[in-house]
Amino acid sequence: MPHPGIPAAFGRTTHAMPDLTLPSPRPWPEARPLRWGILAPGGIAERFAQALQRRTSQRVVAVGSRSADRAEAFAQAHGIPRSYGDYRALVEDPEVDAVYVASPHSAHVELALLAISAGKHVLVEKPLATTGDDARRILDAARAAGVFAMEAMWTRYLAQSDIVRQVLADGALGEVTSVAADFGFSIPYLPEHRLFDPSQAGGALLDAGVYPVSFISSVLGAPGELSAIGSLAASGVDDQAIVSFSYPGAVATATTSLKAWLPVTAVVAGTAGRLEVGPGFLGPTTVRLSRFDQGWEPEVAEWTDAAFAGPGQEGLACQAEAFAGFVEQGLVESPIHRHDEVVAIVDALDRAQQQIFAAAREAVR
Ligand SMILES: NC(=O)c1ccc[n+]([C@@H]2O[C@H](COP(=O)([O-])OP(=O)(O)OC[C@H]3O[C@@H](n4cnc5c(N)ncnc54)[C@H](OP(=O)(O)O)[C@@H]3O)[C@@H](O)[C@H]2O)c1
Repeated sequence: MPHPGIPAAFGRTTHAMPDLTLPSPRPWPEARPLRWGILAPGGIAERFAQALQRRTSQRVVAVGSRSADRAEAFAQAHGIPRSYGDYRALVEDPEVDAVYVASPHSAHVELALLAISAGKHVLVEKPLATTGDDARRILDAARAAGVFAMEAMWTRYLAQSDIVRQVLADGALGEVTSVAADFGFSIPYLPEHRLFDPSQAGGALLDAGVYPVSFISSVLGAPGELSAIGSLAASGVDDQAIVSFSYPGAVATATTSLKAWLPVTAVVAGTAGRLEVGPGFLGPTTVRLSRFDQGWEPEVAEWTDAAFAGPGQEGLACQAEAFAGFVEQGLVESPIHRHDEVVAIVDALDRAQQQIFAAAREAVR
């Protein structure tokens, strides 16, 4: 029997299901271009500027760095009209509508609050903050100031994520009972690198683990009860972690690492089928739907994001377009990544870290 929640688009035939298809992603409506200012021009800021310029009508009009030389070099490299050697000058530029905060995580709260206090909309790199309390401070300040604030969880704004949302809404997987996602890579241990430096809020969970945890949350809802195991680098930050989440009727695991090339897939499984996103589920990628109406041999439908055959990080453009649309609509939060959910995710990452730290302390007693 086909699952009662399956719409015609997924095929209703009981045997061959020859027309099993995935829904088409719905593009973000065209929005008026915002004038963007970039704060903290490091690695991801460079890719963000390129993505906006190559893929959107959004305009990067200014950049602010702690160093006037770095700001100027970045502005020249990306054809940005104005550069500032301090962050405050950038947020006070009256010709800037929205500020993109691209500093290490440890500085997100300070810089986001700076931009909000100047009345700017803010897009803050992931994770929004390093504790749930700080995430809440940013989002409350934005609401009080009447500006739009969003975590730059770019994956949510990619076409594949709209397909996932539609498949889940249609019930094509039956009852969703299991979600697993991972993101990990191997980099040499350098204690001064932001990923290993506790003063820059290093660690696998906050940097990479935020993606699988956010994916799980997007499917099952904001995380609650969790249990984490992991290991620590010599600098004391978490360099590997597995976090298990318990939901009513469902379980989920997020795996992350700074010392293993994980597959980077996200899998949502239920009583009628399975959705696989990736490998490379963070960026533009492939979605595969498997339906098990006839037992162990599934019918499969697949969709690949053909718009992003080039560098995957050009997909950063999608979040900027979505952001501009939300601002145009007068929203204060992203309707597909609400403030309460963002806070719960950051808080879950913090709680997972604290469990790993506590276990490490216990182990040396
Ligand atoms: N969406 C994605 O795919 C993606 C990918 C990578 C990283 N990220 C996120 O982007 C953020 C930045 O990562 P990144 O790899 O771009 O970092 P990065 O290359 O180290 O650049 C960060 C920039 O922040 C500024 N900064 C401000 N306070 C700082 C401090 N205390 N220490 C060092 N730099 C400081 C520096 O610029 P100035 O001194 O010139 O101002 C620096 O160039 C992180 O939160 C990370 O999670 C997202």
